[in-house]
Amino acid sequence: MTVRSARLDRLPAYTVAELAARKRRLLADGVDVIDLSAGDVDFPPPEAAVEALREAVGDPRMSRYPHQVGLLEFREAAANYMERRFGVAVDPLTEVLPLIGSKEGLSHLPLAVVNPGDVCVLPDPGYPAYIGGAVIAEADVERVPLVAEKEFLVELGDLPADRLDAVRLVYLNYPNNPTAAVAPLDYLKRTVEVCLRRGIVLAYDNPYCEITFDGYTAPSIFEIEGAREVALEFHSASKSFSMTGWRLGWVVGRPELISALTKVKTYVDTGVFLAVQKAGAAVLDRAEELVAPVRERLAERRDAAVRALDAIGLGVEKPKATMYLWVPLPKGTTSVGFTREVLEHEGVLLLPGTAFGEGGEGYFRIALTVESERVAEAVQRVGRTLERMGAAGARL
Ligand SMILES: Cc1ncc(COP(=O)(O)O)c(C=O)c1O
Repeated sequence: MTVRSARLDRLPAYTVAELAARKRRLLADGVDVIDLSAGDVDFPPPEAAVEALREAVGDPRMSRYPHQVGLLEFREAAANYMERRFGVAVDPLTEVLPLIGSKEGLSHLPLAVVNPGDVCVLPDPGYPAYIGGAVIAEADVERVPLVAEKEFLVELGDLPADRLDAVRLVYLNYPNNPTAAVAPLDYLKRTVEVCLRRGIVLAYDNPYCEITFDGYTAPSIFEIEGAREVALEFHSASKSFSMTGWRLGWVVGRPELISALTKVKTYVDTGVFLAVQKAGAAVLDRAEELVAPVRERLAERRDAAVRALDAIGLGVEKPKATMYLWVPLPKGTTSVGFTREVLEHEGVLLLPGTAFGEGGEGYFRIALTVESERVAEAVQRVGRTLERMGAAGARL
C-alpha cells in the first residue's frame, strides 16, 4: 500500500524538527549542548501574559470553541497596535484574523488564494512554511535566491516577463530570517507596484518587526501606498514577547483576502484558545514597553556573538534586526557538513544555510537563544572546528 501522498515527497526535510531528536540523544549522553538552532530565545514570557492567562483559564467562557471570530478584545488589541505602531487603521472584525501562530496562517494561505499550477514566489533561503504551504496547495514554486550582492532582496522585476505573468502569490519577509536583512522603503515601493500591476497577492511576513537595534524601526507593508489592495501582513507574539509555545499570531489585510483565509481555517481548525487570545490582548496593549528589554538583551548577545566571530576569523556585520546571524563559511565548505561536524564534536546546534533552501549553501545561522557567555563559548567551539578542518586540510 502507498501510504504517503506524492505531494509529501516534494517537501524538503524540515531540519529544525529533525534536530530536536538529535539534541535529546546528545543530552542523554551527557554532552554539554549549546542550542543555537531554532529561533526560540530563553527569555520568559511577560508577566502580563502569564497573569492574564491564569485569570482567563478560571473563566468557563474561555473554554468554549473560539471559532475564527475568536476574542473581540484580541482583534481590537491587534488593530490598536497596528494603528499605534505603524499608523495603519484597520477594522478589527474584517481586516484582522487571529492565527495559531503565524506559521499556521502562512502555510494555509496558498490553499486560500492559489490554484494548482499557479506560480508562487519564495525567497531562497526562506522560512520553510512558505514552501510547505505552496507545495501542499500544488503551486508551481519559483525560489528566488537571496544573495549578499543584492542585499538579500527578492526582486520580482528580475523574473522573466512570461514567468511573472503566472505569479499569483509572493512571500516576503523583512526583517529577514535567516539572513537578518532589512528592506529599504524604496524596495518595498517597487515591489508593491509590481504586485498591483500584475494582481499578485503579497504575503508580508513580519514577525521580527519589533526585534530591531541601533535605532532602526521596521515598517509595516501597509505604510506603502497601494499595499492595502494586494498585501496580507503576518504578525506573531512569538518573537516580540518570547511566547513561541503559546501559538499566537494574527494576520492583517483587505477583507476579501482575510475572508478567503478564514474559510480555509474554518475547515481545518476552530481558532486559538480564547485564554491565549486574552493574554495576547494584554501584551499587545503594552507592546512598546514589553519589547524594550527583549531588544536590549538581544543586542548584547548580538554584539558578543559578532565579537566572538571576529576573533575566529568569521567577520559579519552587526545586523539591524532579528535574533539571527547569517555567517558565511570559508569557500568550498558545505553548510550541512560543517554544522554536522560542530554538532558531533562540539555539541553546538546551528542551522546549516540549506535548512532554508539550496540558496543557503555556504552559510550557517546562529540564533541568539542563550546568554552572551554561552553564545561566545559556542562560537569558540565553532572556531575549534574550523582549526581542526584547516589542520586536516579538510573541506566538508
Ligand atoms: C520568518 C518567520 N515567519 C514566521 C515564523 C513563525 O512564527 P510563529 O511562532 O508565529 O508561528 C517564524 C518562526 O521562526 C519565522 O522565522
